[in-house]
Amino acid sequence: MTEAELAHLQDQLQRYQKRYLREKQARKEAENLLEQRSRALYDANFELSTVAAQLEKIVEWRMAQLSEALIKAEMAAKAKSEFLAVMSHEIRTPLNGVLGMAELLSHSQLTPEQGDQVATLQECGSSLLALINDILDLSKIDAGKLTLEQRPFNLYSLLDSVVNLFEPKAIETGLSINWQRPAGSCWLLGDATRLRQITSNLLSNAIKFTHQGGITITVAMSPLEDTFDMLHLQLDMRDTGIGMTPEQMGKVFTAFEQADSTTTRRYGGTGLGLAICRRLAEAMGGRIDVSSEPGIGSCFSVHWVATISTAPQAEAPVTVQPEVLTPDMTQPLSVLVAEDNTVNQKLILKLLDKLGYRDVQLAGNGRQALERVNQGGVELVLMDMQMPEMDGLDATRAIRLSNLPRQPHIIALTANAFDEDRERCHQAGMDDFLSKPVGLERLAAAMQRARQQLSLAALPSSTGVADTPANA
Ligand SMILES: Nc1ncnc2c1ncn2[C@@H]1O[C@H](COP(=O)(O)OP(=O)(O)OP(=O)(O)O)[C@@H](O)[C@H]1O
Ligand SMILES: [Mg+2]
Repeated sequence: MTEAELAHLQDQLQRYQKRYLREKQARKEAENLLEQRSRALYDANFELSTVAAQLEKIVEWRMAQLSEALIKAEMAAKAKSEFLAVMSHEIRTPLNGVLGMAELLSHSQLTPEQGDQVATLQECGSSLLALINDILDLSKIDAGKLTLEQRPFNLYSLLDSVVNLFEPKAIETGLSINWQRPAGSCWLLGDATRLRQITSNLLSNAIKFTHQGGITITVAMSPLEDTFDMLHLQLDMRDTGIGMTPEQMGKVFTAFEQADSTTTRRYGGTGLGLAICRRLAEAMGGRIDVSSEPGIGSCFSVHWVATISTAPQAEAPVTVQPEVLTPDMTQPLSVLVAEDNTVNQKLILKLLDKLGYRDVQLAGNGRQALERVNQGGVELVLMDMQMPEMDGLDATRAIRLSNLPRQPHIIALTANAFDEDRERCHQAGMDDFLSKPVGLERLAAAMQRARQQLSLAALPSSTGVADTPANA
């Protein structure tokens, strides 16, 4: 190897060495950087998991708070509905006495002035009862306890009966109700009672807030798209009354709101009717709209969707047995009244007396009622629900378990007016349900139903005391 070649080799070696050192240095720097980054990443990760753990704790805490709030809200709602149920019972019990006695008084010999005073008493009592019913309804809907029935009903017949109910009031005020019942019938599946409540409220408002002219009711229907058995329905209640401004229209569906502060004084009412109507329509999957012009009139429109009923058996003529229409009051009926409240005892005895029932005994609580029934001969029991010692439900269950040759017909006569109460009475084995306050008419109807069920002809004449048709 020449010297020049050696020098060249050395030079190259030196360059490789320098390059090696440079690269080594670079690698070290890269490793340092990587380590730094990894540490930073580790730190960030640690921080993140700490924050995540904290967040989890906060979420857990918030969830605990929320479920506590939910439990509290549920307890409050339950307390509210229990309070309303108790209050309703407490108010209905004395109201039963007031209205019942007023009704009995109205059937007695009175001077025109006294008659007028009794009529006012009855009117005020009825308004109070309507108010209690409205408040109960509203609270039931708000508590989500409203259950709608799905039964066939004829919409046109329903409207006929609502119009018939309000016609006297309209005539008295000089108003006309224009309802042209279309030919044929319109059978739908739904809750006729609630629809009746909506239309009655709207018609009663229309009459109340109209001074001249009249009310026109129309129904329009069209098949719901993509279905073969469903209809969209629109019921319009149009009046020529005082009307409302847009601002007034905006608030009338709110509970306890009226168009203006003079409404209660001038027209009465509490502003609950439309709030209930709207909630009921919404529960039916529908809605209520209003259009109105002051001084011209208003139009309330109910929209809802309903299934066409395929089972209109109810339209078949009802075969009423002659003895139901004119009960054979010469047939004795042994009645037991189980009631703890002395005013109500007095009232029921008087009402029964007025209806011609003379063979009536009293029991002050469920235990006494059970004992009396077990002695035999009792054919019909009017059973209060809440009584000391043994309530009406337990007494009924015990009676149903008794080994009697013939079970009595048991009618609940109670100030508990919720649907659940009706169901509980039915479950306990009662045959019928009358909510207080009860008047002559409803009591007479229930007694007739009882007579029909007991088919009195088959009963031995156990008492020998003939009922007389005092007020039949
Ligand atoms: N057809 C109508 N024409 C004019 N105003 C109406 C009509 N219907 C309702 N309103 C207004 O809406 C308000 C609320 O009606 P809603 O039925 O809720 O209450 P109310 O009739 O005053 O009392 P309640 O129905 O509780 O006895 C009424 O007070 C009235 O001001
Ligand atoms: Mg009203």
